[in-house]
This record gives sequence, structure tokens and C-alpha cells, in this order.
Amino acid sequence: MIIAVDGPTASGKGTIAKALAAHFGVPHLDTGLLYRAVGRQVFLDGGNPDDPASALAATTFPEGLLNDPELRSEATGGLASRVSVHPAVRTALLARQQAFANQPGGAVLDGRDIATVIAPHAHAKLFVTASVAARALRRFMEMRKRGEDVTREAIEADLAARDERDRTRATAPLVQAPGAALLDTSALGREAAVAAAIALVEKQL
Ligand code: C5P
Repeated sequence: MIIAVDGPTASGKGTIAKALAAHFGVPHLDTGLLYRAVGRQVFLDGGNPDDPASALAATTFPEGLLNDPELRSEATGGLASRVSVHPAVRTALLARQQAFANQPGGAVLDGRDIATVIAPHAHAKLFVTASVAARALRRFMEMRKRGEDVTREAIEADLAARDERDRTRATAPLVQAPGAALLDTSALGREAAVAAAIALVEKQL
């Protein structure tokens, strides 16, 4: 059983994907983390994330980098969004994601292009979204809890810029795949969002 969960940043897709994996007893891959590792590696190399050659070289990042807490930062998210526009970067990360998706027993993957590129044959597809205001508020609370000094306005502007880049890029843009169920989490708490996601997946199986 393959479950594809796509959506913009801070939509709740990561939380939902993790909960679906636990509920259905299959492993979970957060594919954004791979792009974040590439973005972080470009930074560590002193490279330019907008240069395809620099970004491609960074796809051979060491496995240990996936555990770096810095991967979760807004700065690394921004770098990830810039390296992810390069087709060569996406191709370099393709086999790893497809192998994860196609492992015996199934898997849950979350990202931007799971239902469109990585696993169009997924048994269940969710497109998780929420308003920019709701997503910015969530991100704001998370960051404040970590003691980061940010404003909601700055986060909103950053999210909107990242959405625009993800939705308008030529290769694997963020779109709701044909057959994907739409889940808007703007007005839902964690429990309600997870329950709605489980119900939508079960309907598709
Ligand atoms: O989901 P997350 O915010 O961790 O993703 C970081 C960035 O990586 C996104 O803004 C997007 O540009 C890129 N990404 C992607 N394809 C994926 C997952 C993430 O292009 N499957």
C-alpha cells in the first residue's frame, strides 16, 4: 500500500503523513528532508543554490546530514526550495524516493510531487493544504516555542514566496494530482486533521 501526501509547507502534511504511517503500520519518508539536506550541503560547500552544478554536487550529501537539526530551520527551507527547481537535482533524488515507495509492504511519502512524479501509481493520494495565514500562524508558534525571534509578517511573506516558487517551477510543480483527495486543515486541530486524513485514505483503498 503506497500513500502519497503532497502539499505546501506548514500545511500539516508532515504530521498527517507520520500519523498515517503509524495507523497503517508502514514506514514514512519526509522527502522535503532530502531537498533540505541538498540546500544545507550547498551552504556548507559555500556554493550557490541557484547554480545547477553547485546544487547537483550537493546531492551526494553524507547520510548523517539528515539528522542535523539545522535542516528544520526556515533558512534551510528557503535553500531547499531554491535547489529543488533544478531538474538534475530532482533526477538525482528520484531513485531513492521510488525505492522507498515501492518497498514490499508499502510506504507513506510526503512532499510536493509524490502523487505526480514519484508514485503516480499510489493507492491513496492526499493533497493537504491550508490558508497562508493559518500556516504562517502555526510556523510562528513553533518558532516562538524554540525561542526564535521572528514576526508573523516575515513568515507569511517567506511562505508565500516559497509557495510561488514551488507552484510555478517548470519541473514537478506543486499541484493537486488527478484523483488526489483535498484536505484543507485551516480550521482543523491535529486530531481532527489526522482523523479526516485516515477517512479519506480508507475511502480510496
Ligand atoms: O516540505 P519541506 O518544507 O520540508 O520542503 C522544503 C522544500 O523542498 C520545498 O519548499 C520544496 O521546494 C522542496 N521539495 C520538493 N519536492 C518534494 C519535497 C520538497 O521540491 N517532494
